[in-house]
Amino acid sequence: MLTIEKYQKAFVNYLNEFATPKAPNSLYEPIEYILGLDGKRLRPLLTLMTTEMFNDNYEKSLDAALAIEVFHNFSLIHDDIMDDAPLRRGQQTVHEKWDLNTGILSGDAMLILAYQLFENYEGDTFKALAKLFSKTALEVCEGQQYDIDFETRNDVTIPEYLKMIEYKTAVLVGAAMKMGAIVAKASIEDQNKIYDFGKNLGIAFQLQDDYLDAYGNPESFGKQVGGDIIENKKTYLYLKALELSDTNQNQELVKLYNDCNSNNEDKIAKTKQIFDVTGASMATKQIIAKYTENAFKLLDTISISSEKKALLKQFGIALMNRKV
Ligand code: IPE
Ligand code: IPE
Ligand code: MG
Ligand code: MG
Ligand code: MG
Repeated sequence: MLTIEKYQKAFVNYLNEFATPKAPNSLYEPIEYILGLDGKRLRPLLTLMTTEMFNDNYEKSLDAALAIEVFHNFSLIHDDIMDDAPLRRGQQTVHEKWDLNTGILSGDAMLILAYQLFENYEGDTFKALAKLFSKTALEVCEGQQYDIDFETRNDVTIPEYLKMIEYKTAVLVGAAMKMGAIVAKASIEDQNKIYDFGKNLGIAFQLQDDYLDAYGNPESFGKQVGGDIIENKKTYLYLKALELSDTNQNQELVKLYNDCNSNNEDKIAKTKQIFDVTGASMATKQIIAKYTENAFKLLDTISISSEKKALLKQFGIALMNRKV
């Protein structure tokens, strides 16, 4: 196994070769732009690491890793349109820098480019990768639709929220890892175990994303802090605050989320105040730790060396404590 930094470097080199100029410029330039911004590249990294966990060479899973990252970046372009987001990775979002139509079509092209990368695999491997990818991509769409539907619903439950984030975010993390295992021709049992590990890590990751959306440092976060509150997102912070609040706090929170004429700064400050006093922010930190712990327990059931497990645990802990 290499260090995390070495996988990162190998992946970014591969990505840079992929993102080269083509005509029409107006279609491909936004693709180069989004892929060139400084993302964490955590999903492709997990693909490469998983291939090596299961005793094969990471170079073999570079195309699968790239497909996952291209798909992820496509989903970010469309997500930013849906969430009306101005900032991504510290820069203007694609639909702000260009326009809505550009965001839609360049995004569509990226989805196809992602699929195309699986053509570099033969036979059974190709089939298994393409099948997993289609299933996962459809689930991401389902999760994204729930996320949007929940904005205007006042009766969203915590189990519904958890299902939503499992679909919009966690299944892709699970699939990124399973693809690494497929390329390495790991047993079906191990493929499924690593998928479940990734899924639990992915749930913790989205919970942390929601936490940072409210509490991140605007200087370094790279996205608009408070964006979820502005958009009335039914996050764990919000749902837990409703559960833990007294009648007054509860009514105020519901009012804040249903008043479309409110001043954004004011709404963000008041909402965060309720997240804090009800203990919802603390409860969010706890559930993040719980899902990370779940992931680690699943990891312990896989028969790989303890050094390899330690590397994945190190990665999981870093994700749980991340600031961006
Ligand atoms: C953002 O993903 C979208 C979510 C699922 C929360 P990342 O936080 O991995 O974004 P980048 O790729 O590092 O910018
Ligand atoms: C994004 O969830 C999930 C997908 C992109 C599929 P968010 O809307 O929370 O992601 P960010 O916060 O914009 O990165
Ligand atoms: Mg978003
Ligand atoms: Mg979104
Ligand atoms: Mg978010």
